[in-house]
Amino acid sequence: MLFKQQALLRQKLFVLGSLAIGSLLYLVARVGSLDRLQPLCSIDGRFGPHSQDEIPLRALQFKRGLLHEFRKGNATKEQIRLHNLVQQLPKAIIIGVRKGGTRALLEMLNLHPSVVKASQEIHFFDNDENYAKGIEWYRKKMPFSYPHQITIEKSPAYFITEEVPERIYKMNSSIKLLIIVREPTTRAISDYTQVLEGKERKNKTYYKFEKLAIDPNTCEVNTKYKAVRTSIYTKHLERWLKYFPIEQFHIVDGDRLITEPLPELQLVEKFLNLPPRISQYNLYFNATRGFYCLRFNIVFNKCLAGSKGRIHPEVDTSVITKLRKFFHPFNQKFYQITGRTFNWP
Ligand code: A3P
Repeated sequence: MLFKQQALLRQKLFVLGSLAIGSLLYLVARVGSLDRLQPLCSIDGRFGPHSQDEIPLRALQFKRGLLHEFRKGNATKEQIRLHNLVQQLPKAIIIGVRKGGTRALLEMLNLHPSVVKASQEIHFFDNDENYAKGIEWYRKKMPFSYPHQITIEKSPAYFITEEVPERIYKMNSSIKLLIIVREPTTRAISDYTQVLEGKERKNKTYYKFEKLAIDPNTCEVNTKYKAVRTSIYTKHLERWLKYFPIEQFHIVDGDRLITEPLPELQLVEKFLNLPPRISQYNLYFNATRGFYCLRFNIVFNKCLAGSKGRIHPEVDTSVITKLRKFFHPFNQKFYQITGRTFNWP
């Protein structure tokens, strides 16, 4: 009998304890997201008016899963009507450069309460088949957002694809364009590493980087190799400048985004006319990953997938020197055009 009573008491204590811990966790989480629950600052008029009555997006995010569903395009008609949500064409696009840190940049910008990211690379402007589906198809690929927010998408292939500048211009001639670059030789090796990993996954063999980057007949840099061509940033940018003035571009330092992301993000906030909302609180260094990760609030944080931040194969130093020498004049021109100088060798 005594044993039965003790068991009952233990059971009651367990239920009470669970309730107390649950409430405590809820309170802590709410405090962590309080800054997100404040009304948002109004932002640049070009991005539309902002009503103080609207529920800040992060408050919705706190209702676990709801915002996630919106962003996946799964919101019900009732939810869309209730929250006045819309699918908007992007006001800014990260057009490249592949392996420059495009995913990190998009995810980090998404920390801003006025930014909503398109999670997938949509490849609307570089893929003829997608482009033929029309602008409404593209818009329908966008996440749900409040009218005052801006949607950003990233498709790094845009930067190097011939037809893209004209197509984007036709959609919106005043769109803001973000380009994230890294030291060109490192970027080319990163590009190679991604392809190599794909081949290995399929049990295929692949050439060494040195063999692809250097023409064996001339012993010069092989400009036919795509990873090399993509790193000649100025050549691609010049094509874009036939459609957009340089003021519509912002160049992000991808190497600095790795080591010191906040100042780079603050420059982007300024470029997009957004109030500065991303803070050091939102970014923490994860020693295991060797990269900065994202903190939305006290309960929700995340690092980028393991495919970001691969270990590069060792490359012959004479090949690296040759590549750096090759890129040097193009880099100088890039600095001159963009007005942003990097410490690239
Ligand atoms: P590596 O894999 O060569 O290190 P993209 O998203 O354009 O494909 O770029 C991938 C690169 O983003 C990675 O290249 C990595 O160095 C860089 N990067 C920048 N910030 C990062 C972060 N916080 N976490 C993981 N990778 C990051």
